[in-house]
Order: sequence, then structure tokens, then C-alpha cells
Amino acid sequence: MKIIQTKDYAELSRRAAELIAAQVREKPDCVLGLATGSSPVGTYEELRRLCREEGLDFSRVRSVNLDEYVGLGGTDDQSYRYFMDSNLFDHVNIDKANTHVPNGRNPDAEAECAAYDAMIEALGGIDLQLLGLGPNGHIGFNEPDEVFTLPTHRVALTESTIRANKRFFEREEDVPRFAYTMGIGAIMRARRVVMVVNGPKKAEAVRRAFFGPVTPQVPASILQLHPDFTLVADAAALGL
Ligand code: GLP
Repeated sequence: MKIIQTKDYAELSRRAAELIAAQVREKPDCVLGLATGSSPVGTYEELRRLCREEGLDFSRVRSVNLDEYVGLGGTDDQSYRYFMDSNLFDHVNIDKANTHVPNGRNPDAEAECAAYDAMIEALGGIDLQLLGLGPNGHIGFNEPDEVFTLPTHRVALTESTIRANKRFFEREEDVPRFAYTMGIGAIMRARRVVMVVNGPKKAEAVRRAFFGPVTPQVPASILQLHPDFTLVADAAALGL
């Protein structure tokens, strides 16, 4: 595990975007695993700038996102498809047909999850997976559990995640209770993993995930075993 400590969020976003840009330059048709949440917003902003001002070329890039809320479609402004379109895809020269987010509108969980894993496999796996960190140590929507779940699966969100994510919705009742999430398998098979974490509220989760035992109770802790994992975190998130 490699740790890049930055002084603030702006530097964190630049450093993470540089790692992704280097991947795109090295392999123009790479498969990027992408994440939502507030943490990577600055990273996407910097990637947009690199595309606009420095000609970073996304035309052959393929992408797979970690997760989606069950029940939400791409035009719903709380959906992760909408987030990706508005934060990145609509502003860079990526071909939308090459961007993949689980279909939250598919009521057949088994079929949706199996198709998503088959699609990742058909793309040749993920070259670089970007992650955020949930306050309870979750990655994607892999919540604390008795076991690490490997395939893409439907998950019931924990109360703490529903509370953490309600800031994006008008009312807590509006937060979907289920999500489809890529499992630990595809994340751990990614050839490279980069996580962005900022702020004092994440310090405890960082401590438990990367300075404690590997346990499915803290899903991100499995990344301690990944051969090419880089944590990009500001000083506050590394405070403990
Ligand atoms: C959500 C997403 C995760 C994300 C987490 C943290 O639950 N499914 O992928 O890492 O939130 O979000 P934030 O970056 O806003 O703290």
C-alpha cells in the first residue's frame, strides 16, 4: 500500500487526476473503474480541465462504475448515472456507449448483477479502479458484513449509509434502501486501485481500514492485500 498525503482537497484532487491521466496516456483504451460520492468530485473536475486544456483523450476509454441505487433511472438526478454524466462524461470526449453503470431500473437483480460481471470480464477487467471510502469503511456499496461478497450483488444499505447519503436527497425517506454494487472480486482484480479520502470525518474509517486487521466488518481493509493500491488522502483524513 502506498500513501500520498496532501495538504488539502485541491492537491488531493490533482494528484488523483494525475494518476488517472497517466493511465489513460499509457493505455488509451484502458478500462477505468469509477466512483461517485463527494470525494471524487474534485478529481473529475481536474480530469475535465486536463481534457479541455491539455488534450487528455478519452475517446477510446471504457468505464465501469461501482454501483447504482435500485429503482433509480439515468434521468433521475440522484442516480449515479446522472452523477457521472454531469460530473464527467458530458464534459470530456468519452463515447457514452463505452460507459457502464449498473441499471437500477432492472428489477431482476440476479440478471442485472450477472450481466454486469460478464460485461466487466468481456472488457478484460479493470485497469484502474477509483474508490471513495464510506464512513463505515464501505467501498462501492459493499457494506460491513460477515464475509466479503465477491460478485456484483444487490445490497440492503445500512442505516449509517442511509443517514450519510441523505444529505443528497430532500428527505431521508427518499434515500433508496437497496443498491446494486460491484463486489470485492472485481475491485481486487483491478490491476491498480486508487482511493481518495478527505476530511476529519473520515479519519476513523481510514484508521480502521488501513491500520487495523483485514476484516469484512471494514470492507476497505481488504485493500491492504492489493498489490497496487494507492491511498490519496489529505492530512485531516490521516489524522488518526
Ligand atoms: C456512497 C458511494 C461510495 C462512496 C461513499 C462515500 O455510499 N456508494 O462509492 O465512496 O458514498 O461518499 P463521500 O465521498 O460523499 O463521502
